[in-house]
Amino acid sequence: MKGDARKHLHLGILFLVVGLSLQTPSSPSQGKNVTRRVKDSHHLKRRAQIRQKRAWIIDAFEIQEELPGPYPKFIGTVNLENNQLRYRLKGKGVDEDPKGLFSINEENGNIYVHDKVDFEVTPMFNWEFLAINKTSNKLGTKLGIQMKVLDINDNAPEFTSKSYDVAVNESCTQGSTVFTLLAYDKDSQSSSNSLVYYHIVSQSPTDTDTEFTIDKENGFIFFKGCLDYERNKNYKLVFEAKDNGATVQQSSQCEVLIHVIDRNNHPPMWTSEAIQAEVPEREDNRTVTRLGVTDGDSPYTPAWRAVYTILSGNDDGNFIIETDPQTNEGILTVIKPLDYERNQKNELSIVVANQEPLFSCKIMERPPAGLWVVNMEKNIKPKKFRAPKSLTVKVKDVNDPPEFVTEKIGFSIVEHSLKPGTPVGTIQAKDMDIITPNIIKYKILNDPANWVSIDENTGIVTCTGEMDRESQFVSNSKYNVTILAVDDGR
Ligand SMILES: *[C@@H]1O[C@H](CO)[C@@H](O)[C@H](O)[C@H]1NC(C)=O
Ligand SMILES: *[C@@H]1O[C@H](CO)[C@@H](O)[C@H](O)[C@H]1NC(C)=O
Ligand SMILES: *[C@@H]1O[C@H](CO)[C@@H](O)[C@H](O)[C@H]1NC(C)=O
Ligand SMILES: *[C@@H]1O[C@H](CO)[C@@H](O)[C@H](O)[C@H]1NC(C)=O
Ligand SMILES: *[C@@H]1O[C@H](CO)[C@@H](O)[C@H](O)[C@H]1NC(C)=O
Repeated sequence: MKGDARKHLHLGILFLVVGLSLQTPSSPSQGKNVTRRVKDSHHLKRRAQIRQKRAWIIDAFEIQEELPGPYPKFIGTVNLENNQLRYRLKGKGVDEDPKGLFSINEENGNIYVHDKVDFEVTPMFNWEFLAINKTSNKLGTKLGIQMKVLDINDNAPEFTSKSYDVAVNESCTQGSTVFTLLAYDKDSQSSSNSLVYYHIVSQSPTDTDTEFTIDKENGFIFFKGCLDYERNKNYKLVFEAKDNGATVQQSSQCEVLIHVIDRNNHPPMWTSEAIQAEVPEREDNRTVTRLGVTDGDSPYTPAWRAVYTILSGNDDGNFIIETDPQTNEGILTVIKPLDYERNQKNELSIVVANQEPLFSCKIMERPPAGLWVVNMEKNIKPKKFRAPKSLTVKVKDVNDPPEFVTEKIGFSIVEHSLKPGTPVGTIQAKDMDIITPNIIKYKILNDPANWVSIDENTGIVTCTGEMDRESQFVSNSKYNVTILAVDDGR
C-alpha cells in the first residue's frame, strides 16, 4: 500500500454484522494489519456482552478520489489468515452498479480499484465481506467493510447565476448590503476544499466617490462613499469566488449589474423672479400667478415633483397653491374673494419642496481601510435648504355697487290724503367704494300707478297722484314701488 491508496484500521469493534451500519473510524492508525484482535478492555467488555454470538471484524479503507492511473490499483488486504477460505465482496461498486469498480482477490483478500472514484458521487462504499469454506462451500464469515473516498479539491465554487441585476437606491447608505452572493462548492463540506472566499475583480466605471466591495466570507456586496444617479446610473461589477484547497484553489466569476434608482438629492430651485402680483377684488377661482422651479432629479418622479406650501399671509384662506403636473409650476389661485376695502395687499411667504424627502451625501475622508467618512443626511426639511419666497399680492379695486341702507322700506299713507307734490319720505343708499367714493343717483324702476317720483340726488320720494286703496295695483293694502340706486363709477 503506498501513498495514495492508504488503508487504515480501526480497532475491530466487535459487531454482529447483519446489515451494514458502520461507524467512521475516529482515529486512523496507519500501517497496521488488516486482521486485528481486540485488545483494549472496552472492546473486551463489549465482546463479553455478545460472547454468545459470533464476532466479526469490521475493516475500513480510504481511497483518494480522482487518482491518476494506472489501474487496477491495489488498495489493501482483508485476510483471515486461513488458506481454506475464499473471499468475496458484495455491494455497490462490486456486484452492484457501478459494477466492477472494485474487486477482491478470492485467494489472498487483496482489494483493487479499477477506475477513478468520485467523492462527489459516492463519498463512501459499504460492503459485505464473505469468507467461504473452500471444502464445504459454506459461508464461514461475513463482515462489514467500509471504503471511504477522500475528497480532493476537484470542484470550483459555483455561483447560482452568471449574472445578476441589482437595483439600489441612490439614497442607500454606504456599508449597507445591496446584494448577497452565494457560491456553492461541491467538494467535501467539512474540508477547506469547499470553503469559499469572495472578492471583487473589477468595477466599471471606476468612480472616486463610489467603491464597491464584498465581504470575503459572507458574500455581502456593499459600497463605500456616496451614490449619485446623475454621476453614474449603472455599474458593472465582476466578483470571484475561490475555494481554499490546500494545494490547488479553484475559482469562478460572476457579473453583478448595479442599477442606481434616482432619489431626491436635488432640491427644487426658484426660477420665477416674480415678487409681486395683482388680483381684482371680489373674484374667486382666479389664477394670481405661476411660480416656476427647476429640479435636477429625473422628471416626473417624486424626487422631481414640486410641492408648494403657503407658510404665512393666508390667514383668511383666500389662496391656494397647486402644482401643475406638466410644468411643475406652482399655480397660485384665489379661492375666496378678496376685498380691497379690507386689505389692499397680502404678503405671502411660500416654500417649495419635493414629494420625496431630500437627502444629501458628502464624502469627508477616504481612509485606506474600512468604510469612508461620509456625511449622510436624510429627510432634510425644506426650510433648511431654501429660503421661502416672498410674494406680494396686491388687490385691485373695482367699483362696488351702492347698497341700500335697508332693502325694504315702507311708508303708511291714508288714501286720498296726500296732494300731489307732497314728500312721502327719503330713500338712502351707500356707496361701498370707501376709498374712491362715487356719487349715487336714484331712479324709479317700477311704479305701476304712477303715484310717486324721486329726486335723483337726494332720494326724497314725492307723491304725484292720488292714492287709492281700492286700486287694482294695491293688494293687501300694499302698493309696491321699486327704486334703483346707481353710482357714477366708470
Ligand atoms: C500482517 O500479518 C501478517 C501475518 O501475521 C504479516 O505477515 C504481515 O507482515 C502483516 N502486515 C502488516 C502490514 O503488518
Ligand atoms: C471447512 O470445512 C471442512 C469440512 O466441513 C472442515 O473440516 C474445516 O474445518 C472447515 N474449515 C474452516 C476454516 O472452517
Ligand atoms: C428604495 O427606497 C424606497 C423608499 O424608501 C423603498 O420603498 C424601496 O424598497 C427601496 N428600493 C430598493 C431597491 O432598495
Ligand atoms: C374655476 O375655473 C376653471 C377654469 O377657468 C373651471 O374649469 C372651474 O370649473 C372653475 N371652478 C369653480 C369652482 O368655479
Ligand atoms: C315689488 O316689485 C318688485 C319689482 O317688480 C318685485 O321684485 C317684488 O317682489 C314686489 N314685491 C311685492 C311685495 O309685491
